[in-house]
Amino acid sequence: MLTQEQNERLTRVGAGTPAGELLRRYWQPVAAAAELTHEKPIKAVRVLGENLVLYRTTAGDYGLVAEQCPHRRASLAYGRIDEDGIRCPYHGWKFNAAGRCLETPAEPRDSTLRDAVKQPAYPVERLGGMLFAYMGPKPAPALPRWDVLAWEHGRRWVQRHSVIGCNWLQCMENSVDPSHLYWLHGRTAHLAKALDHYEEKHDFTVFDHGVMKRRTSAGDEGARVDQHPLLFPNVLRHVLKSRQTGKLVHNLQYRLPVDDTHTQVFMVLFSPDDEARTAPDADTPFEFVPMRDEDGNYRLDQVLAQDVMAWETQGPVMNRAAEILGAADRGVHIFRNLVAEQIETVAKGGTPLGVTPAGQGAPVIELEVINERIGLDRPQTEAAATA
Ligand code: FES
Ligand SMILES: [Fe+2]
Repeated sequence: MLTQEQNERLTRVGAGTPAGELLRRYWQPVAAAAELTHEKPIKAVRVLGENLVLYRTTAGDYGLVAEQCPHRRASLAYGRIDEDGIRCPYHGWKFNAAGRCLETPAEPRDSTLRDAVKQPAYPVERLGGMLFAYMGPKPAPALPRWDVLAWEHGRRWVQRHSVIGCNWLQCMENSVDPSHLYWLHGRTAHLAKALDHYEEKHDFTVFDHGVMKRRTSAGDEGARVDQHPLLFPNVLRHVLKSRQTGKLVHNLQYRLPVDDTHTQVFMVLFSPDDEARTAPDADTPFEFVPMRDEDGNYRLDQVLAQDVMAWETQGPVMNRAAEILGAADRGVHIFRNLVAEQIETVAKGGTPLGVTPAGQGAPVIELEVINERIGLDRPQTEAAATA
């Protein structure tokens, strides 16, 4: 249980709020690269409570600027693109990716008005079929090259899910809540012990990039482990087995805070495959995945929609002053403490967990994901040591 004040502190995402400042220290996903095309090079996006316009110039460079034109406030989302920037649809003022005003066409030729104009703008990088933006103080840190974004030995694709009507922290607390698996997902996932009383051990270890969550369940053939990291602060790294192909599908689930009461999930998926190679900067297939059917009902035969049902029904911003936590909620407790601690670190001018300075040739970050239930086993050395 938290006080109302603590709850506000951990959940609010706007500029100048404690969690908003923490979240701005991390690169955030803003769109799938495939969502910007030659025909539609501009997309309005809402990120951390800010209305922004993402665009791709005719030269292929990306920009992300505040939506409202500084001249007379028309929306740049209806603007026009050329080689080096975006033009307002109303009077044609033009801005580049750094937010500099390059032209004010209706002004006298010798006007210097444009030099006094600065539009808020954020750097954008493309990796693994996604576009990421950094909205914090400069210099921008390194964009983490997670394995799923950077691997080449297989196929990669990207999904955007329906916008979820609740605060980001609810989605992330779910990722350190292993005890919901059997109840919420047991029937769909065909878990042998669904709805039975079960014996499991849950461990949570804070490591360089977040919280490593490990579940050890007793079974007839001995202990079985699954281990998935929560990448601080708003990403889950997971793996599943495709029902269609029987192949492993590694994935990253980004939970982007749209604003205080909305969250956008992007998923990057990668399936190792001897027949395929995919470069990290390759064009990447994209699909939209609805969480509800045409009648607006949750698609409860799907694991992801089951989670969405749980998160949304907790409320737009869950009232943590009215909850009762048990011993099985230890992961939730650990994660909240970590968020609170990292908020403090940022407030004191420090560098929060997992943020590394931009440097030469950022390495691919390989994560130790295990899921023995679907055949992704522990490294042999470890299995032998614990056998
Ligand atoms: S409102 Fe944008 S140029 Fe005038
Ligand atoms: Fe779940």
